[in-house]
Amino acid sequence: MGARDALRAESLRAALTRHLVAEGSIRDERVAAAFRTVPRHLFVPHAPLNRAYADDVVLMKQNDAGVTISSVSQPSIVALMLGQAAIQPGDRVLEIGSGGYNAALMRELTGPTGSVTTVDIDSEVTDRARALLAEAGYDDVRVVRADGEFGVPEDAPYDRIVVTVTAWDVASAWMNQLRPGGRLVVPLRLRGQTRSIAFDRVGDHLESRSTTLCGFVCMQGAGANYERVVQIAGDEVYVGFDEDQESEAHPYVGVLDEPRGQVWSGVVMKREEPLSDLNLWLAATLPGYCILFADRSVQTVAPVPRWGAAAMTTHDSVAYLTSCPARRRPATFVELGVNGHGPDARALMEHMSDQVRLWAAHHRHGPGPAFQVHSTGTAVPDGFQITRRHGCFLVTWPE
Ligand SMILES: C[S@@+](CC[C@H](N)C(=O)[O-])C[C@H]1O[C@@H](n2cnc3c(N)ncnc32)[C@H](O)[C@@H]1O
Repeated sequence: MGARDALRAESLRAALTRHLVAEGSIRDERVAAAFRTVPRHLFVPHAPLNRAYADDVVLMKQNDAGVTISSVSQPSIVALMLGQAAIQPGDRVLEIGSGGYNAALMRELTGPTGSVTTVDIDSEVTDRARALLAEAGYDDVRVVRADGEFGVPEDAPYDRIVVTVTAWDVASAWMNQLRPGGRLVVPLRLRGQTRSIAFDRVGDHLESRSTTLCGFVCMQGAGANYERVVQIAGDEVYVGFDEDQESEAHPYVGVLDEPRGQVWSGVVMKREEPLSDLNLWLAATLPGYCILFADRSVQTVAPVPRWGAAAMTTHDSVAYLTSCPARRRPATFVELGVNGHGPDARALMEHMSDQVRLWAAHHRHGPGPAFQVHSTGTAVPDGFQITRRHGCFLVTWPE
């Protein structure tokens, strides 16, 4: 790279850092300094400089079906997760899912007395990360090719473990390789939503400290888990359940041809207000909770967001969250309601609508859900529990 491009890269890097600070993704001067220092363009050699320093993910590898399986993550989500991780000088850090860039940022944060190990399941990714880290001057980051489900026991215990791939579970190895009081940051997919959750190890379990919505490529290997998808009207409309919801009933193909009922909740919100906490509340309180996905061309379904609508099903009925412009309010406000089809639709719609009102009355303006992770075989306090292979997630709503 010539001197002119090097200067341009430095200036773009400074501009990206200023942008991340201004939008609130970076709140710590040490993280800002790391972003100003690490040359992201070296980790995405095929991208032009302006793309390398855009606040955007850079795709690195797709599988045979065209699904992205490796990327260099979006700077704003990297920054948010580094903020959640609160890496201190001298920390021993494990990153699961490599690209090189994030590991280099972590190496800046740990300083010379700390260490960074990064593990990826894909040798193409680890070979590239190792070479690019060396080129950027971070050859003391240890790059390991292995399934991150098992951590990297040789370098344990860790003060911080940061997972940069969507996980459905907290692997026992992560819990065991985290030192007492250490922090795990992991993008967890629960009931159709992915949240990066920072957990502290407290005794024999984990307790959440912060959460932020995010999206990542899916975990491969032993920890791969898949959502169960059931078509209810051709290829265009389907409902999605998590693997642990195997006993949930789903309606027959054609249920949407039954007349559509509607119930309005009276809950009004700004169009852009996120529904993620409401959806998790509905997941916790409604039997048969699932996510309904529908192509916008299907006339029998009211338009649902690209990422799906909260829904509930029985063996012959379905109800799903919807909205309409709120009466006597500016156009930016909507009222939440529920659509339903099938013989049980009225009961499902009333039940869902009641829970929307309950959430709005008691939790909408609260701190949001809190999460705990308990290993299999240990006692779990009361609350909404999601049981996975390695343990149980407890979700509660602090008042
Ligand atoms: C979003 S990329 C990681 C981005 C990276 N941290 C960066 O610096 O931007 C996710 C990576 O996770 C890897 N991965 C998927 N499943 C894995 C597993 N079980 N163990 C380790 N790595 C895995 C993929 O190969 C992919 O390279």
